[in-house]
Amino acid sequence: MFDQFCDSAYLKKSQYKNADNLNARIALHQRFSTNKADWQDWVFKKADIQTGQEVLEIGSGPGSFWKPNLHQIPENLTSVLTDISIGMVKNAKTLLETYPGFHFSNVDSMRLPFKQDSFDRVIANHMLYHVPDIATVLRETTRVIKPNGIMVAATNGENHMLETYTLLSHLLPEFFSKPRVLRRFNLDNGESLLRKKFNSVELHLYEDSLKVTEAQPLLDYLDSLWGAYFDESIRTTLRNLIEHEIAAKGFFFIQKSTGVFIAKNPK
Ligand SMILES: C[S@@+](CC[C@H](N)C(=O)[O-])C[C@H]1O[C@@H](n2cnc3c(N)ncnc32)[C@H](O)[C@@H]1O
Repeated sequence: MFDQFCDSAYLKKSQYKNADNLNARIALHQRFSTNKADWQDWVFKKADIQTGQEVLEIGSGPGSFWKPNLHQIPENLTSVLTDISIGMVKNAKTLLETYPGFHFSNVDSMRLPFKQDSFDRVIANHMLYHVPDIATVLRETTRVIKPNGIMVAATNGENHMLETYTLLSHLLPEFFSKPRVLRRFNLDNGESLLRKKFNSVELHLYEDSLKVTEAQPLLDYLDSLWGAYFDESIRTTLRNLIEHEIAAKGFFFIQKSTGVFIAKNPK
């Protein structure tokens, strides 16, 4: 049994009931990443979105993919942002509804309410490991994507943020004995899963790491994922460990492993 991060009820009612948890994690990456190229801009360019196309995003969260890329959206684009969480859909709408071409819908990617061959691009960034059945979502994706369409699926490698797991595994051993959802769709197994539904799959890696120089943003990150399991003694221990490392080395180092699959020629 995997951890709670592939339980759709938990995801939509708790972890992703709104953008707060995700934004705490994005803030850590934005402030302390060693790669200063913008991640969303990098993915946008890989997606090769063209004038007049129709784009579906599944698990779009609060619209994080679009906001930093508004300046480079091609003309006459139709972008349909969907998420299983009503709160996330509301957040995306608040952020983007004044811009032309955006539509928002509360949709579970296991059942896409769209006709066959509707979209030129389907974006699934850091979400496929959350869905109850990845094969069903990929079958739905290849149904709604046009024959010359492209699926863009970002995910992480098994060692992404490893140092945070090392920190916590001593403090919450029972919780961390369960396999992480990342094992379900990651940089190592993503290609073979996508190849079941696409004839061509390329992986592009985004080299990066974190050098965190303040304890609080890292504590906020950890809280956003596992805060429900923390008591005051765990919080104090975490703060002490992080502050000690920053005092000794100047920063708390965290490795990252992330990238994007570009899948073409749906079967
Ligand atoms: C890690 S967040 C990523 C959000 C956004 N794609 C990004 O890259 O910032 C995962 C998102 O997937 C959504 N999600 C999880 N399971 C889903 C499902 N079965 N169908 C649609 N969305 C889902 C969550 O509500 C959450 O907004």
